[in-house]
Amino acid sequence: MKEHLKDPIFSIVSEEADQLQQACFVIGGFVRDLILHRNSKDIDIVTLGSGIELAKRVAKRLGPKTPVSVFKNFGTAMIKKGDLELEFVGARKESYTHDSRKPVVEDGSLEDDQKRRDFTINALAIGLNKANFGELVDPFGGIADLENKIIRTPLEPGITFSDDPLRMMRAIRFATQLSFRIEDKTLQAISDYAHRIEIISKERIIEELNKIILSDKPSIGFKLLDKTGLLPLIFPELAKMKGIDEKSGVAHKDNFYHTLEVLDRIVPNTNNLWLRWSALLHDIGKPRTKRFVPGTGWTFHGHNYVGEKMLPKLFRRMKLPMNEKMKYIQKMVSLHMRPIVLSEEEVTDSAVRRLLFEAGDDIDDLMTLCEADITSKNAEKVKRYLKNFQLVREKLKDLEERDHIRNFQPPVSGEEIMETFGLPPCREVGEIKNAIKEAILEGEIRNNHDDAYQYMLNKASEMGLSPNQG
Ligand code: CTP
Repeated sequence: MKEHLKDPIFSIVSEEADQLQQACFVIGGFVRDLILHRNSKDIDIVTLGSGIELAKRVAKRLGPKTPVSVFKNFGTAMIKKGDLELEFVGARKESYTHDSRKPVVEDGSLEDDQKRRDFTINALAIGLNKANFGELVDPFGGIADLENKIIRTPLEPGITFSDDPLRMMRAIRFATQLSFRIEDKTLQAISDYAHRIEIISKERIIEELNKIILSDKPSIGFKLLDKTGLLPLIFPELAKMKGIDEKSGVAHKDNFYHTLEVLDRIVPNTNNLWLRWSALLHDIGKPRTKRFVPGTGWTFHGHNYVGEKMLPKLFRRMKLPMNEKMKYIQKMVSLHMRPIVLSEEEVTDSAVRRLLFEAGDDIDDLMTLCEADITSKNAEKVKRYLKNFQLVREKLKDLEERDHIRNFQPPVSGEEIMETFGLPPCREVGEIKNAIKEAILEGEIRNNHDDAYQYMLNKASEMGLSPNQG
């Protein structure tokens, strides 16, 4: 492992630990990622003795201006060096709970510390003292689990998950990110202890969900959340999407699996977390709008609007950001069927202009979502949709070049209308403004001041208004 510890920071830590005569190791995620050839900037150092003392000495060596953040209650200290973040801690017997408010009380051996960590692959340590520099310490078979792609707890899983129930989410998140399998007993324990997730803060849960969503195949994680019973506890709206109803021999598709397919399909086309969330939420209104209409079959009429309306409550409960990100997802959810409907009919200029007007700068994201939403098994159908989408995209481009609808600004302002006709702020002003906008979207006039001004004069005269002579 020596060859991986070339950064001079490791020799500095090594020398200082030797000076203090403290055994010292790099441990946890950094070691795991090193073996997996993943880049990691967070370096956890564990020492048999005072982590704070060691950190202070290391900081001194790095230069007089290197700040050390000390968390006395936790017995930890942190140093930043460039983009690296080093956290120092004394080995402990107590359970390792990241955000626990409990102060650390009892010192322990390295193995005490390793066994209170979440997974064998996260419990690997590498010696940093001169005598054992670069030597791997792996009492729980973490290397074998890395090779066999297995997530397993070092202790009896019930103990590990009771120490910190968030680890159930972490197990699923690592399985998703790394394409690892959760070992059977560990998986069973997640089902058994799922209810304990209730004591975990929403923020920590969302952090794990976001990591699942940002992975290469998020469906792995959501299927595991479902399988273990965590899903209805943390995300009941999504859990309700699961299942198929049949009436008079007509069945609808399973909206949960459809949603996961859409989410996986959008992954190669965007790293935008919020667009991926839009994929996850695009059909969230379906369970509430589901109806069986004899002769027609299953309908989910208005599910896009119902879905849009459901979001504020869902975001508040899950502690997702209730800001422009939510508004963006609401827009995606409410408009997600428009390009499809559009491409089913003859693609008229005015319909494309209206879509452009409503989606604004988010039009490309909306098209990306819609393309991912086509999950039909019928190859002919898919081909036809994608071809029509291509047509919609071309039209969008042409019309945008011509009419600049994306960031629509009224070409004649309310003030100009008031001035021209000597009007105070009143209903008529709004009516004229709206008529101009409609004429542009319908393609009756171009989006420029001259056309709009002329249109305003005509419209006003129809309404019995004449320009101010003064
Ligand atoms: N850890 C733990 N239980 C937790 C959180 C963390 O045992 N609930 C331990 C693991 O040994 C983990 C280390 O603390 O490797 C560092 O945790 P963290 O930085 O949160 O995660 P990483 O494993 O480094 O992974 P990532 O950076 O992908 O979150």
